[in-house]
Amino acid sequence: MAPVLLVLLLFISSSSAAGKHEDPTRKTMEEFSGFQSPANPFVSDSSNSLFVDIESLQRQIDELSTFSDTPAPTVTRILFSDKDVLARKYIKSIMCQLGLSVREDAVGNIFARWEGYEAELPAVATGSHIDAIPYSGKYDGVVGVLGALEAISVLKRSGFQPKRSLEVILFTSEEPTRFGISCLGSRLLVGSEQLSEGLKEAVDGQNTSFLDAARSAGYAEDQEDNLFSSVFLKKGHYFAFLELHIEQGPILEEEGVSIGIVTAIAAPASIKVDFEGGGGHAGAVLMPARNDAGLAAAELALAVERHVLASGSVDSVGTIGILELHPGAVNSIPSKSHLEIDTRDIDEERRNKIVSGIHQSAVEIAERRRVKLSSFKIVNQDPPASSDELVINAMEMVSQKLNLTHKLMISRAYHDSLFMARISRMGMIFIPCFKGFSHKPEEYASPVDIANGVKVLALTLAKLSLE
Ligand SMILES: *[C@@H]1O[C@H](CO)[C@@H](O)[C@H](O)[C@H]1NC(C)=O
Ligand SMILES: *[C@@H]1O[C@H](CO)[C@@H](O)[C@H](O)[C@H]1NC(C)=O
Ligand SMILES: [Zn+2]
Repeated sequence: MAPVLLVLLLFISSSSAAGKHEDPTRKTMEEFSGFQSPANPFVSDSSNSLFVDIESLQRQIDELSTFSDTPAPTVTRILFSDKDVLARKYIKSIMCQLGLSVREDAVGNIFARWEGYEAELPAVATGSHIDAIPYSGKYDGVVGVLGALEAISVLKRSGFQPKRSLEVILFTSEEPTRFGISCLGSRLLVGSEQLSEGLKEAVDGQNTSFLDAARSAGYAEDQEDNLFSSVFLKKGHYFAFLELHIEQGPILEEEGVSIGIVTAIAAPASIKVDFEGGGGHAGAVLMPARNDAGLAAAELALAVERHVLASGSVDSVGTIGILELHPGAVNSIPSKSHLEIDTRDIDEERRNKIVSGIHQSAVEIAERRRVKLSSFKIVNQDPPASSDELVINAMEMVSQKLNLTHKLMISRAYHDSLFMARISRMGMIFIPCFKGFSHKPEEYASPVDIANGVKVLALTLAKLSLE
């Protein structure tokens, strides 16, 4: 495999005008691969260069999975828990072994940088998350962090010298488990003032504040007012951002395709709704006299489905994942109900139309059923993101050169990339996972598929670094 990869690197570098620079002693990728000097002795020495050390990577994935609050094969790693702190140390030790310089911000986003020879240019970044929802698996997010470090390792072993610096980012709390905020680290990084204020008040289910939790993990130690806004990065801070991730859906596996190149990430919105009615005895209160908060919720659930289907697009989806009735007794008319709705689309306007349709229905149902719509709260309503043309082209070209089957696809789950797209060119690489399973212990990606993903990531990083 190694000689083939050398040829690939040669190809990639040749498309970037051979990265002219001044220092003749600097061993560049071009020189290494023999592009400028066919007599270069390194060319034949391919034994230890440019291969993905999948055994080592798999060992790291397995080891990281042991930092868990529940027994194997499940993984539970909650933000700023003791196990999360140990897992972060483990990742940082690998970053240091690779000779990267490590920086951490106030909320625990971790940045590992490999300085390029034009270090003042915006860097090319890649990364993902390592937090895991309760009783989940060991690949979600992790493949995009440890895989990114292996990609850096591949490039280092090859003798590659980046022009733009390369950075690996570990994002804090992609999962909303502890503080109810998904993609906390990346959302804040790209400059959410609202979140920067909200974090000052945020508490978890045990009434531990975000600030105390972060401090117990060694972050947020400064006292200043701008503690959280200090995390913000400016638009253009990165030249491009890439994320390697398991698909979390069945398409690649079913179609036998190795690499998914993400062209867009669907726009999520979530809504919390509360109805209040009169309650009462299930026998004594006759039907015409009822103000049943439970039936209002049931009707709204069906209205969500109706609005989603009315959009006419397969890309519109809606889910009522939480429906609670109070007091929750078989012989008591529900006096309160609570629903949580998730709706997504790749088209923001269409998604917003669904959200406003749901609101109109909630108002109408409450009026007709004579219950109170006590709360209709849009928790988040994020725009979708499109991958950048330049990044898509690079990923496609690299996949072709590696002879890997690939397809363009949409990410219906969202990721830190959704937010990174606000400040940077963005692209995502999907690899197949067993039956599309994710967020459960059966989650699995094969070593071959992971290695393919790392190769595509490594060569795309190399190519973008030379842009
Ligand atoms: C949570 O903690 C704050 C500050 O310590 C306290 O004022 C508040 O009453 C607590 N809330 C609950 C529900 O325990
Ligand atoms: C891809 O396939 C072509 C044609 O079969 C072959 O020449 C080339 O070496 C292959 N490249 C890789 C990376 O396997
Ligand atoms: Zn993930």
